[in-house]
Amino acid sequence: MEIHIDLTGTRGHRDAIYRQLRAAILAGRIRPGEALPPTRELAQRLAVSRTTVSAAYDRLTAEGFLTGRVGAGTFVTASPAERPSPVPDGPGVRPLPEWDAVPPPPAPFAPAPEFDFRPGVPDLSRFPFDTWRRLITQRLRAGQADLMTYGDPQGHAGLRAEIARHVGVSRDVRASAAQVVVTAGAQQTTDLVARVLLRSGDLAAVEDPGYPPPRLVLGARGVRVAPVPVDASGIVVGAIPAGTRLVYVTPSHQYPLGLSMSLDRRLELLDWAERNDAVLVEDDYDTEFRYTGRPLEPLHSLDSRGRVVYVGSFSKVLSPALRLGFLIAPPSLVPALVKARYLTDWHAPNVEQAALAAFMAEGGFARHVRRMRKVYRARHELLSAVLARDFADFLTPLPSTAGLHLSAASAADTGPLVRAARRHGVRLYSLGDFGVGERRPGLVFGYGAVAAERIEPGLARLRALADEGAA
Ligand SMILES: Cc1ncc(COP(=O)(O)O)c(C=O)c1O
Repeated sequence: MEIHIDLTGTRGHRDAIYRQLRAAILAGRIRPGEALPPTRELAQRLAVSRTTVSAAYDRLTAEGFLTGRVGAGTFVTASPAERPSPVPDGPGVRPLPEWDAVPPPPAPFAPAPEFDFRPGVPDLSRFPFDTWRRLITQRLRAGQADLMTYGDPQGHAGLRAEIARHVGVSRDVRASAAQVVVTAGAQQTTDLVARVLLRSGDLAAVEDPGYPPPRLVLGARGVRVAPVPVDASGIVVGAIPAGTRLVYVTPSHQYPLGLSMSLDRRLELLDWAERNDAVLVEDDYDTEFRYTGRPLEPLHSLDSRGRVVYVGSFSKVLSPALRLGFLIAPPSLVPALVKARYLTDWHAPNVEQAALAAFMAEGGFARHVRRMRKVYRARHELLSAVLARDFADFLTPLPSTAGLHLSAASAADTGPLVRAARRHGVRLYSLGDFGVGERRPGLVFGYGAVAAERIEPGLARLRALADEGAA
């Protein structure tokens, strides 16, 4: 390859060769995979010593721009991403200590195990791919330039109207589109609410056991988080510490226990919030999938004082990859929450929001929910039946009539069985994985990611492991 390198004067040739080669690689003039001339050849051409060229090559190799292959020559590294950082790990700017307590995010593409009982994921093979493709294409084909500019931080107006209608019909949540804020999944709600209501050092409370992300979001903002025990009726209101400003709860399907908060407990919690000037974040994350009975009224519907932020998600009904959810806030909080969304990341992607609004408006969303409810109900029934038949000696399923997971209490530590199961292709979690103070023994079985016909063989493998002494 003919590389043009300018050398003037008699000094600094090594640096000049290094800088010009580096610039050529970064600018893409020499592409990944291309070979550099042998050091002897380039030295001759530039009329410098071979050591000078070798030193420049060595530095570029050490910085990850070049790779030497024995007998073949020196090549530009295949992809810039493979270049190691020139700064070693250790020194440099350190994050706040709050971040040390936050575990690394889960690996995004962990290969699916043979039997996947992880909770919280829907059956993605049943995502309405064809309809979604049509809805997205229609938005793009229509040449709607307004979808390509900055959008409304509160969310696409059509989508907010559909969300208000949906929660009104399905959950009796009375709210106008003006109270809806579209979020990047349920997870963003806790962050936005904390931004507008809490200072570092303030106190918040979460259910224990509970869904970890809200606790971590609050902790990372410097908020002190109290884990509060949950009994058969829901969060133990009497155990919420004085001075708590925010309580995050999952009343319709406690995560991970699966219980529904009793009506008395809901009223007690609302009353507590009013007396303590606190906000309740009500996460109704998988409420669309209810298999028997009528759900109790959400806290939001029982609240007449503007204490509740209601949270919904499209992660369970459609896909977590959309990163679309919503909150419904008391009017007093909406403007600040919209500003917080604007300052955080401005808004959710417009085209996807518009596609979802159309999906809901044309009835496809409701049909998809009905279809998936049947699918999950069958899995829920099968899982419950097999647990009752084959695991009664050490597992007691907890009452649950909704959602995408089922939990079972145990008298014995289930950690060893979970670890053995994972080694043998069965992914599941211990109830203790979701505990902060108290780590209850028990198992959590998700049935969104496991096909119905995989449930019995998966549980048979688990039974065999338990019989081998892993329980
Ligand atoms: C309790 C709970 N809330 C919310 C979510 C969904 O979060 P997001 O909408 O951020 O995907 C999950 C998903 O697992 C969950 O288990």
